[in-house]
Amino acid sequence: MESCISETFRNGIVLVTGSTGFLGKILIEKILRSCPVKKIAILVRSKKGFNVNQRVADMYKQAVFDRIRSEKPGFIDFIKIIDSNLEDSFMGLTTADRDWIVENVNFVFHCAATIKFNETLESASKINIQGTEKLLSLATQMKNLKVTYLILLCIGDLPVIPPI
Ligand SMILES: NC(=O)c1ccc[n+]([C@@H]2O[C@H](COP(=O)([O-])OP(=O)(O)OC[C@H]3O[C@@H](n4cnc5c(N)ncnc54)[C@H](OP(=O)(O)O)[C@@H]3O)[C@@H](O)[C@H]2O)c1
Repeated sequence: MESCISETFRNGIVLVTGSTGFLGKILIEKILRSCPVKKIAILVRSKKGFNVNQRVADMYKQAVFDRIRSEKPGFIDFIKIIDSNLEDSFMGLTTADRDWIVENVNFVFHCAATIKFNETLESASKINIQGTEKLLSLATQMKNLKVTYLILLCIGDLPVIPPI
């Protein structure tokens, strides 16, 4: 089964959102360690005064990457970092990054989300719903797309809707 999965990804270009999060980190480590992908493009936003390159460099030092660091020391060469914030128009992508994604990406994993249970409905909607819509809109333009996988959770301080 595992070889079947890894064959699916052979020479593929995978786009991952939410790669700095709990699920995203595990996903990119596993794909890079087990699948012969050509590239993983990770969408990362600047945060708390750290730019995307600083954030990703810090991420590589975390324990989740210990195994791949020893088994595939060159794994970083397979990662393309793209600056993007789902809340911005057009996901904050430059035209060059957008064009590269449209031309090259074969697989999309959407892991970016806010999972704070005390998030305002407005903010949760902006990231989880509108952000997902933006990504799906981009995915529809991808010329070589094979699979889009959305990892989702519905959250929000929703009012109880009375029965009609
Ligand atoms: N954790 C689980 O066990 C689990 C199980 C099943 C499903 N899921 C689902 O998987 C998804 C991710 O969960 P998680 O546990 O990995 O959450 P997490 O650790 O909070 O990670 C969230 C990710 O989303 C990114 N993100 C948030 N807002 C963004 C924005 N405006 N623009 C770009 N990126 C943004 C975060 O980036 P920053 O680092 O920049 O904040 C981070 O990389 C959720 O939909 C969750 O419901 C999780």
